[in-house]
Amino acid sequence: MPSSPGDCADTTPRLLALSDLHVAFPENRRLIEDLRPGGSGDWLLLAGDVGELFDDIEWALRTLSRRFSTVIWTPGNHELWTHPRDPVTTRGEQRYQCLVELCRELGIATPEDPYLVWHGPGGPVTIVPLFLLYDYSFQPDGVHGKEEGLKLAYEAGIVCSDEVMLHPDPYDSREAWCEARIALTERRLAELDPAYPVIFVNHYPLVREPTRVLRYQTFAQWCGTTRTHDWHVRCNAMTVVYGHLHIPRVTWQDGVRFVEVSVGYPREWEQRPSRPDVPAPGVPRQILPTPAAEVMPHAGSRT
Ligand SMILES: [Fe+2]
Ligand SMILES: [Fe+2]
Repeated sequence: MPSSPGDCADTTPRLLALSDLHVAFPENRRLIEDLRPGGSGDWLLLAGDVGELFDDIEWALRTLSRRFSTVIWTPGNHELWTHPRDPVTTRGEQRYQCLVELCRELGIATPEDPYLVWHGPGGPVTIVPLFLLYDYSFQPDGVHGKEEGLKLAYEAGIVCSDEVMLHPDPYDSREAWCEARIALTERRLAELDPAYPVIFVNHYPLVREPTRVLRYQTFAQWCGTTRTHDWHVRCNAMTVVYGHLHIPRVTWQDGVRFVEVSVGYPREWEQRPSRPDVPAPGVPRQILPTPAAEVMPHAGSRT
C-alpha cells in the first residue's frame, strides 16, 4: 500500500495537488480509496482527468470532498468526453455545466466560482482554477497551423481521442470554445486583488516548454494554447499546477514553479522508478508550504 499524507504526523495545514486520477482503472481507484489528508486543514487541488464516465467522476469527487476540508477542481479533457458507455450523454458546454453542478452539490469549488484565498502557511495566495482547453497552437517546429499539424498526427497514428469524444457544442470547434474560455477568464483575472500572488490550477501547462519532453511532439497540439504564455508573469503567479502530460515533475519558467501532479495510468506509474522529487503514486504533491527542495534556487534559473 502506498504511503499517503495520512502517514504524516505533522498537521500543519497544507495545500496539496493531484491530477489525472483516471479512476476507471481499478488500481487507480484503490489509490484514491487509500488517500487521506494529513490533517483537517489540508486543501486538495484537482487539475483534471479524474475519470471519463460521470458515475466514476462523481464517486471520486464525492470521496475526496468528504476527506478534505476544501477541494478545488478544474476539468481535464477526459471529464469532457461523451463516452459511448456513459449513460450521461450530454456534450460539450452542457456536460461541463453538469460537472460544475455536481461539484456545487458536493461543496467543491470550480472555475465558475469566486476564487478562494489560501491563508495557511505560504499564504495568502489566490487559488485560480482555470478551464481553457487548447487551440492546436502548440505545433512542432516548422509546422504551421491545425490542418498541417493534424495531418502529421494522423500520418503518425498519434491522435488524441478528443477528436472523437470531446465535442465542442455549442461552439463550432474546440479552438472556438477555447477562445471563449480565454475571453471569459481574462475578464476575471483583471479583477484579481493585486496584493496577493496567484496559484493557477489548469489541466494544461499554460506554456509550451513542459511539452518539449513529449516523445511525440505532434501530441503537443492537444496540450494547451500559446495565448497563455505570459499569464504566470502577468498575474504574479507563485506556482502553476497542471497535469495531462503524465510526467510528474517540477520545472521553472521565468522564476515561477510549474508542477505537474499527474497520477497517470497504471502502466505508467507502476514502471516509474521511485525518485525523491516525485511523490509515490496517488500521494498528492505538496504545493504549500513550499517544500525546501522546491524553493527557487536563484533568480533566473531555468530547467
Ligand atoms: Fe490524463
Ligand atoms: Fe488530459
